[in-house]
Amino acid sequence: MIDTHSHLLHQLDDGPDSIEESRECLRILESFGFTEIIPTPHRFHMLYNPTPEETADRVAEIRSPLIRRFSFEYLYSAEIAETRGDLYELTTTPSGWKVVLLEFLPLMVRKNDIEQAIFTLNMHGIAPLVAHIERYALANEFWDDLKKRYAIFYQISLKTLSARFFDAKRNQIIRLLDAGLIDNAATDLHRLSKIEQIEQGLAFLLSRYPDQKERLFSLTFQEKN
Ligand SMILES: [Fe+2]
Repeated sequence: MIDTHSHLLHQLDDGPDSIEESRECLRILESFGFTEIIPTPHRFHMLYNPTPEETADRVAEIRSPLIRRFSFEYLYSAEIAETRGDLYELTTTPSGWKVVLLEFLPLMVRKNDIEQAIFTLNMHGIAPLVAHIERYALANEFWDDLKKRYAIFYQISLKTLSARFFDAKRNQIIRLLDAGLIDNAATDLHRLSKIEQIEQGLAFLLSRYPDQKERLFSLTFQEKN
């Protein structure tokens, strides 16, 4: 199992304050069955913008066999597409799309804005993997329609799946999973204090969708359009 989204490198963004906490997170994630962790610090965020050099330093300090590469969680802005050459993609699809982990400003929930962003990124050969898609509270039909017209992938956060059964975002995830729209699941782990939520979310996901385990925790992405 590969985790494609976390903030567990120490002292870079809103992740752990100490290397000890980072290492403890890694140890526990390994016990859950993760065989590779790809840290993704925030990039071009309002509050955090660690450089690739700083990020590589943290990876070297931790020296964990679970971390073999790093990427970033990019906050969308029009400039992102123009920095294409400097982006750290998670992977490249067989047809050549660079898969980049992306989040939108929480207030950017207008469908037209999101579609324009995806259009711009696709024009530059970037297929975004939209982080915590449940955050944007848009209907299945919108995401389904985007997938038919653009190279785009959707990621859910395990933490959200640990919420109570009436939680709207949790139920949004279940609807999206049932509709076959989700490409990837990830921890988005920031702190050791949240690891129980990851454990609960993972247990729920694997018990309800056991046949999707391999696909949801891999780096294999297949665009639909
Ligand atoms: Fe994140």
